[in-house]
Amino acid sequence: MKIDAMTTLYGIIGWPVSHSLSPLFQNGFIEHSGKNAAYVSFPVAPDQLEPALDGLWALGVAGFNVTVPHKEQAFVRTQADADARLIGAVNTVRRSDAGWQATNTDWQGFRSVVEGLQLPLQGADVLLFGAGGTSRAVLHALASLQVGRLFICNRNPDRLTALIDHARQAYPALSCLPLAWEQQAVDRVCATAPLLVNTTSVGLKDGQQFPFVLSGAGAAMDAVYRPDGDTAFTLAAREAGRMAVDGLPMLISQGAAAFAWWHDCAMPDCLASLRHIEEQLGRTPCHLPGWGRE
Ligand code: ATR
Repeated sequence: MKIDAMTTLYGIIGWPVSHSLSPLFQNGFIEHSGKNAAYVSFPVAPDQLEPALDGLWALGVAGFNVTVPHKEQAFVRTQADADARLIGAVNTVRRSDAGWQATNTDWQGFRSVVEGLQLPLQGADVLLFGAGGTSRAVLHALASLQVGRLFICNRNPDRLTALIDHARQAYPALSCLPLAWEQQAVDRVCATAPLLVNTTSVGLKDGQQFPFVLSGAGAAMDAVYRPDGDTAFTLAAREAGRMAVDGLPMLISQGAAAFAWWHDCAMPDCLASLRHIEEQLGRTPCHLPGWGRE
């Protein structure tokens, strides 16, 4: 990669952002495309979003990703497209003549990984754990995949009700049902659901266990990742004999969708990028049969 006076700058804003893998794969995408661009991380403190947006604009930054804790506030401060408006958060922003334009590619990242798992999902039951910000992007993707019944299970019942209300209003064709936060209820839905999804942050801390024993057949997908690939959720799912992937492929895929949106080009090769990062992290390659030949 060459950096010169014509290099276009992209980046990610978040707090903390030092652990982010985005610069690694985004610079890989840039290198493979031959573009004169670079992607860096910008640590932006929670109360610094507004001056940061002005500063990025003044410096001519062409586009950036947004991560925790700015996704919801950035939504308010940019011109969000229809997908981002349904999700209520943005993760990708680009410069336009009319100011900062924004979208949300998390749902595309999720959908691409689900497609990579090659499960028969049309009309099928899906069990979703969590009712926070990430669950809204997952919901958007599942609605587009025309799944049958979506059971949502969350510890805090008020947040669960709010998500169910939102889902019923935004996606009337999707059958969305609340599920009690208890083992028996989880067992019942596991028996029929080929896909389980976790969007809770349980298991991000060392030693934390997933609150339920999982069962049934099919796959399980975590929206969060750990460098070793073993989240509490993927461990619980593998224990049940399910194929399980953590959030790394989804992370790479949402980044590839952001790259395509910034540059108005085709999606870069996510599988090559995934294998490269897995190797760098020293972890076992995950199985995504629908992500192309190797
Ligand atoms: P994100 O934007 O990553 O979704 P969030 O909006 O803070 O983050 O949501 C976090 C999710 O993880 C919520 O579903 C939360 O459940 P509650 O609504 O019950 O708080 C869930 N979560 C976090 N820690 C949890 C724990 N120890 N046990 C169960 N659920 C947990």
